[in-house]
Amino acid sequence: MREMFWPVTLPDWLPLPGKRAKRRALRSLHGLVQRHITQRQALPPEAAPQDDLLAMLLAVRDEHTGDGLSATELHDECMVMFQAGHETSATALLWWAWLMAMHPEAQARAQAEVQAVLGTREPQAADATALDWPGATLKEAMRLYPPVAALVSRARRLPA
Ligand code: HEM
Repeated sequence: MREMFWPVTLPDWLPLPGKRAKRRALRSLHGLVQRHITQRQALPPEAAPQDDLLAMLLAVRDEHTGDGLSATELHDECMVMFQAGHETSATALLWWAWLMAMHPEAQARAQAEVQAVLGTREPQAADATALDWPGATLKEAMRLYPPVAALVSRARRLPA
């Protein structure tokens, strides 16, 4: 996190404070992501989920060459999605839940709309446009408590 807010990208070999901890954390994160990929690839096709992000990344093919993603590309895509996607969504939902708990009238209105649109069935992505009040309150929660409150700098590192 500290490095993301530095205005310049310093060489990774510099023995800056926190580098050992960063490397340890990175190893653990790479291992976690790779374990998920390896477990998924070991599943027989009929047992593997077909509709999540990992399934989409495994299925993707270059339209000219027909090639799928390389092992490194697949791993890197999963790392980005995991990092960019999970904490942001969790933070947004946490503030939203807290605000809804503080405003029971807004919560009741959102709940009534969910009941009317979905009943007891599982929500699909296409339902999002029909859920005005849940959508509006979620946006308001993110306006009040943005999960990402600053611009993030980019680092360009050449492959090792
Ligand atoms: C409430 C949820 C989310 C919020 C508030 C959010 C917010 C943001 C913001 C502000 C940026 C731009 C950062 C910058 O350039 O300074 C960004 C970039 C990005 N987000 Fe999200 N995000 C959310 C959910 C997700 C999810 C679920 C995914 C993927 C599964 C995702 C993937 C990405 C990626 C890949 C980028 C980088 C795009 C690029 O620079 O090429 N985000 N997000």
